Amino acid sequence: MDKIIIEGGRRLKGEVKISGAKNAALPILVSSMLTEGQCVYSNVPDLKDVNSIKLLLSTLGTSVNTDGNTVKINAGGLNNHKAPYDLVRKMRASILVLGPLLARLKKARVSLPGGCAIGARPINLHLKGLTDLGASIELKHGYIEARADKLKGAEIYLDFPTVTGTENLMMAAALAEGTSYIKNAACEPEIKAMADVMNKMGADIKGAGTSCIKINGVSSMNPSSVSIIPDRIEAGTFMIAAALTGGDFKIVDCEPDHLGSVIDKLRRVGSKIEISKKCIHITGPDEIISVDIKTRTYPGFPTDMQAQFMVLMSIANGVSTISETIFENRFIHISEIKRMGANITVSGNSAIVKGVPALSGAPVMASDLRASASLVLAGLVANGKTEVNRIYHLDRGYEALEKKFKLLGAKIKRVS
Ligand code: UD1
Repeated sequence: MDKIIIEGGRRLKGEVKISGAKNAALPILVSSMLTEGQCVYSNVPDLKDVNSIKLLLSTLGTSVNTDGNTVKINAGGLNNHKAPYDLVRKMRASILVLGPLLARLKKARVSLPGGCAIGARPINLHLKGLTDLGASIELKHGYIEARADKLKGAEIYLDFPTVTGTENLMMAAALAEGTSYIKNAACEPEIKAMADVMNKMGADIKGAGTSCIKINGVSSMNPSSVSIIPDRIEAGTFMIAAALTGGDFKIVDCEPDHLGSVIDKLRRVGSKIEISKKCIHITGPDEIISVDIKTRTYPGFPTDMQAQFMVLMSIANGVSTISETIFENRFIHISEIKRMGANITVSGNSAIVKGVPALSGAPVMASDLRASASLVLAGLVANGKTEVNRIYHLDRGYEALEKKFKLLGAKIKRVS
């Protein structure tokens, strides 16, 4: 199994190009199921999770062709309504095929995703919304069995603004008869990006990016060509690397507008940040100042940046409180960062981080995607050698992370 070895303590400097967003690519690739023609997507990141969704789409009868970062999908042959356990368990976002399968084939048999390291992650809101749209749903033998002779527009209220839930329901409602409203919808930029793509395909969706989305159902949709938006979590991870190492980065091909809360916190930490079109120039502070964060839905501070920010706070001057409000078990990275010398205590859903002068390199184990990134960051700033094991999590969501850090001057390598 691959691992990453880092000799920490270098001041990093240079330019880094941000890849397409995983969390936009996954639902957008799935949305090609809504049309029978060929959709062409550019700037698709080369990631394990993207490969998982491509494999699932092929299993369902669509044709998928990849050439570098361009992916062509033709769902004309969509004929299989079954998403098997073996594929769904590898990636929870596979649940996204449920809405489009119902819209196109009127039936779906999709494995229940189950929990994961960071929380139970139920999908009750996806199912409730589909029921509101007229689907009948049963849970049998670990599978969701759903049917809908005709999906009908409805007013759907989400108890929590679930991201993939909103995406699933947007897809189902796009081909339903009549008008639907998704209230308390997720507002993440990936939702807006997906709605833009779907509107280009002929859907009629208004208000995506706000908490109320109106969808006028259409009878059919057409293929389209689009470029995937930049990954705001990857960009934020590099911003934290600059702040951590006293570095000086130009982060290019990113979308600063999507990073408001992260930019605000990193300025408070002492970083100097200049923003221009698609570019963030960040210079890390001489002394890192402790700042509190609480994860929130967009535009609040993203839960997907919490572990990385905690590493930054672990060498800050002062004490910071980091509260996780989205997932109930997203502190598993703490025990590993503590093995590198961090001083962190957990109280309920908050972590109290007392800054220490330095971290020291150690062998550590990645437990989930963003936790893996936080351990790489810790390794970059720690004294001596850090070995990050189980990095398949990292490959799920970061394209060529170690190569990008190498170009910024890090002493980092991947070994088998
Ligand atoms: C998406 C992102 C993930 C990010 C998360 C929160 C993708 C592919 N993944 O995951 O990177 O960390 O948003 O920003 O876009 N919930 C329910 N019932 C449901 C659905 C969700 O209770 O039916 C709860 C979850 O348990 C969790 C919270 O809502 O506590 C947020 O989950 P959700 O927004 O659905 O996350 P994902 O869409 O799975």
